[in-house]
Amino acid sequence: MRCIKCGEKAIMELPRHNSAFCKPDYLEYFETQVERVIRRRRTFNRDDRILIGVSGGKDSLSLWHVLARMGYKTAGLHIHLGIGEYSSLSYEKTLRFSEQHGLTLFTVDLAGKYGMNVTELSRTLRRAPCSGCGLSKRYILNREAYERGFDALATGHNLDDETATLLGNILHWQIGHLARQSPVLPSTGEKLIKRVKPLYTLTERETAAYALLHGIDYILEECPNAWKAKSLLYKDALARIEAESPGAKQRFLTQFLEAAQARLQVGADDYVLRDCVRCGQPTTAELCAFCRMWQQATERAEKRKRYRETASGREMPTLQERF
Ligand code: AMP
Ligand code: FES
Ligand code: ZN
Repeated sequence: MRCIKCGEKAIMELPRHNSAFCKPDYLEYFETQVERVIRRRRTFNRDDRILIGVSGGKDSLSLWHVLARMGYKTAGLHIHLGIGEYSSLSYEKTLRFSEQHGLTLFTVDLAGKYGMNVTELSRTLRRAPCSGCGLSKRYILNREAYERGFDALATGHNLDDETATLLGNILHWQIGHLARQSPVLPSTGEKLIKRVKPLYTLTERETAAYALLHGIDYILEECPNAWKAKSLLYKDALARIEAESPGAKQRFLTQFLEAAQARLQVGADDYVLRDCVRCGQPTTAELCAFCRMWQQATERAEKRKRYRETASGREMPTLQERF
């Protein structure tokens, strides 16, 4: 297998592009893809300050690396989710990367700032960890980007993430989600920061290769809750289709973005944003979804505490005391 650019021995084959590259030409291909997304999708410009959500995984570290290399003004934000050893390791990898490259890193500790980590939140609410985790990440990333005066918020979502989300949204006909599924979500209010996904044309395998070739030390472990997420099933199904028909994933997403998405926009902007009465972040309701979730979690935790205190003082708590 030879590099299609220079004829040297190739180290990376890309069946979906019918091509193969040597190390320098692969790294150039990767940067060109990112550059193209930035230019075509007008994600941000040279003067913008970009906050990157960094998990310590291959995608977000590669994203930070490539944008910093290209000379963009970036800083990272890591949210410590408190999912046991996995979160400690994620933080370590992120911190080490920022120190090695002399980049600014902000950190938010979910339990420290809001009172519970993802595991406690999920137990208290009796909900899958991923739902509270996803909502918390979206909320905190936007809030920190706004409060710290950033112009754009970038995440490391790749082609596999985006196609899995698209498949899930279609399987459940989530029209509202489909209308908003885009590599660039412009700011629709002062406190809603523009959200961008510069790696959305690159696969997981491609970001992993970029990280390895640049010697980026990223966390290899998956989140221990990942097996509960439907997205893995969708990724598996799409991988099988891709193996039979190289390029299918990319066509699925590109054709959705180019041909279908605009048609779903009718009525998508028919909502009025206002400030959440509790935290001031933008929402369509009185309380934002994040504050509603935390209010419910706090109430439940207090109820359980009262129940435990009552139970330890008496032999048999009444039914009302139990619930
Ligand atoms: P995930 O939702 O885990 O697939 O992650 C998608 C993107 O969200 C990552 O590429 C990061 O940009 C961002 N992200 C995930 N986890 C964190 C975290 N703990 N802190 C900051 N950003 C995160
Ligand atoms: Fe959120 Fe796994 S990263 S539950
Ligand atoms: Zn709120």
